[in-house]
This record gives sequence, structure tokens and C-alpha cells, in this order.
Amino acid sequence: MAVGTVLVTGGTGYIGSFTSLALLEHGYDVVIVDNLYNSSKVALDRIELICGRRPAFYELDISDEKALDEVFQKHPAIDSVIHFAALKAVGESGEIPLEYYKVNVGGSIALMRSMERNNVTNVVFSSSATVYGDATRFENMIPIPEHCPREATNTYGRTKVIIEDVITDQVKAQRNKLEKAGKSPEAWNGALLRYFNPCGAHPTGIMGEDPQGVPFNLLPLLGQVATGEREKLLVFGDDYDSRDGTAIRDYIHVVDLARGHLAALNFVREKKPGVKAWNLGSGRGSTVFEIINAFSKVVGRDLPYEVKPRRQGDVLDLTAHPSLANEELNWKTELTMEKACEDLWRWVDNNPQGYRQEPPPELLAA
Ligand code: NAD
Ligand code: WQD
Repeated sequence: MAVGTVLVTGGTGYIGSFTSLALLEHGYDVVIVDNLYNSSKVALDRIELICGRRPAFYELDISDEKALDEVFQKHPAIDSVIHFAALKAVGESGEIPLEYYKVNVGGSIALMRSMERNNVTNVVFSSSATVYGDATRFENMIPIPEHCPREATNTYGRTKVIIEDVITDQVKAQRNKLEKAGKSPEAWNGALLRYFNPCGAHPTGIMGEDPQGVPFNLLPLLGQVATGEREKLLVFGDDYDSRDGTAIRDYIHVVDLARGHLAALNFVREKKPGVKAWNLGSGRGSTVFEIINAFSKVVGRDLPYEVKPRRQGDVLDLTAHPSLANEELNWKTELTMEKACEDLWRWVDNNPQGYRQEPPPELLAA
């Protein structure tokens, strides 16, 4: 008998696939919906290879409420949703803002409407540290606590701020409605998980990030430099007020991040807290040069880079204060940034075509 059944939107994507794996490994049944805009169904095969269980899968757009209703009706055991599906390219979000508001905000509203109709009342949402914008504008807000005021500096981040508010208002409204009807209001709950910088791959080397287009995050780009697909890394600014002049981020291993979702889901289902936000980060900041060094060490040679001016919209420091999640969710990171580099390299080195190729037999046999 399953611990519970969870609908995972965006579940064939990077973080969604690792979270689906963690859910299956911990006894949940998983139903994934994804339109495969930035992922592939091969992720389902890899999940099954690793844990021996396969999620149910429906190819659909989360804006399609009718299709969502059908999935909920087909799987009446679903009582919770983990909502990953979104567009996530910061630069692109400034170029096509309407698309970002439509998919991210509109899609989340469609999902919440379908949840309400089908009496599915727990939601765990992929928010982002990007909602804080530049926390160095305040004194004493680095590392960043959850009460740091939100002020996103880009369109993508603003969609996350709005969705956090949509979920908060909906949970509150549904709780009020239940109370007025003389029922227990506790059914409706939301977890807003603000991730810092997810990275890394599965330690087996057969599951990792496989975006459809060009990567834009630091570690996947470094991976391409290491495989020779990219000539060098461009370092965006070495004139920050940091220990080596480059910007500081809190890199979190995707396996730890997946465990964080499990912890939040369990907390929400058991403690019924209403809506709460938690930072998912390690509390340890690394500079761009520290990442280059750590990855070079794993690869076994120096990776070429060139310093360029700062990237527009970048901030000096995004490091989490993770104590709320440590204490309330009983969750903390266990894997280091160095381990994330090691696992990422195993993935990239062995699967240069990502999910478009079979992994080497020795990895499958291990
Ligand atoms: P991803 O692109 O790998 O996963 C997103 C998934 O959603 C993809 O599989 C994509 O095909 C799917 N999708 C997109 N639009 C959809 C739609 N309209 N209907 C159905 N499916 C749709 O990205 P990821 O890195 O796994 O990110 C997952 C979530 O975490 C996103 O909400 C993202 O904003 C958030 N997040 C990511 C990071 C990061 O650095 N990766 C950091 C903080 C927050
Ligand atoms: C990390 C550091 C760059 C690329 C983004 C989103 C954020 C969240 C995570 C979704 C920065 C530097 C990078 C390069 C570089 N995503 N860098 N050369 O910008 O911290 O966060 O991903 O929610 O919302 O904004 O991540 O990996 O792009 O950059 O020097 O080619 O690496 O300047 O300091 P970022 P990143």
C-alpha cells in the first residue's frame, strides 16, 4: 500500500525527475504530467532503472484544465501536488514576458482551479531564491532568511512571487470556506520552496540535467567546457566585494533538493500548517572561481575561462539561511558542492548526448 499518491507537474524535468525518484523510493505512488517542452520521456526509463518503479505519465500542458481534471479523476488517490512545471530562463523571461506570465502564472492558476474542483488540497511549489532579488540591499540579510522582503529583479522571478501569492490566497480562501461550512479548515496546505542553485546529477551517472536547448547555468556550462563542446567559460565579473571578486551562490545537490521536497510534503500532509515558505539551500556560499577550481579538480585539468563584465541583473550574494527547513522539516543538505561537481562530471562525461544516447553498459551494470 502506497504512503500516498502525488501528482508531479514538470516531473520529467531536471528537479522533477529527481523528486519523483525520491518519492517512489520512499513508498509514494507518482503521477507525472509534463508537456515535454524542456524534457524527455527517457527520464521515466532512468527513474525505473534506478528504483525499479515507474511513475504514471501524461503528456499535457498544465494550462489545459480539462486534461488535468481527467488525470485527477483517473487517479482519485492523489491528495497532493508538487508543482515544478514552468519556463525558467531568466534572460528569455525579459524578452517574452507575456509567455512567462501565461505559462507560469496562468498554468499555476489552471492547476489550482483543477485541484479545487477535484478536492486535491496540498501543494508543494517550486519557488526560487530569485524572489529575494538583491538581499544585500538590507543589512544583516546574508545569509538570507525567509522573512527577507521579496523583490525579484527579473520577469521570471516576478512570476514566482505572484505564484507564491496565488497559492497563499487560495489556501487561505479555501480554509475560510471550510470553516464557514463548519468543516475542519486544515485540509488546504501549501509549501513554498525557495531553492538556491540546484546542481549535480545522480551518483550512478545515468540521470542528470538534459535541457532541450543551450544551458545557461554555471555548472552545466562548465560541463560543456570540460567536454570540449565549449571553448571556455565566461566569468561574469571579478569586481564584486567577495573574497576573490566573483559572485557568491549557494549550490545545492539535486539529490538533497529532492529529499527536501519529500520532507516538505510529509510535513504539509502531517502537520497541516497552512501556507509556509522554506529556503532549500546549504547555507554555504561558493564563488565562481571556487566552482571552477572544484570542477577542474574533478575533471583533472584546468578549465579555460575569461573574465567578462558583470551580467545584467546578477547580484553579489545569494546564500541561504537554511535553519527553518533544518528545524521544521528536519532536513538539511548532506552532499557538498564538491560532490555535486563529481556527480555532474560522471553524468556529462559518460552521456555527452544526455538522454539521446544509451548510458555506457558499465554504468548500467553497477
Ligand atoms: P526543467 O525545465 O528541467 O523542468 C520543468 C519541466 O516543466 C520540464 O520538464 C518542462 O517540459 C515542463 N513544462 C514546462 N512548461 C509546461 C507546461 N505548460 N505544461 C506542462 N509541463 C511544462 O526545470 P527544472 O530546473 O527542473 O526546474 C523545475 C522548477 O524549479 C521550475 O519551476 C523552476 O522555475 C524551479 N527552479 C529551478 C531552479 C534551477 O536552477 N533549476 C532554481 C529555482 C527554482
Ligand atoms: C551562477 C553564478 C553568474 C554563467 C539562476 C537564476 C535563478 C535560479 C538559479 C531558477 C553567477 C556566474 C554564470 C556563466 C558566470 N533559477 N556565471 N558565467 O544566476 O545564480 O541563478 O539559476 O529559479 O533564478 O537566476 O545561476 O548558474 O546562471 O550563475 O560567471 O557563464 O555564475 O554570474 O554569479 P544564478 P547561474
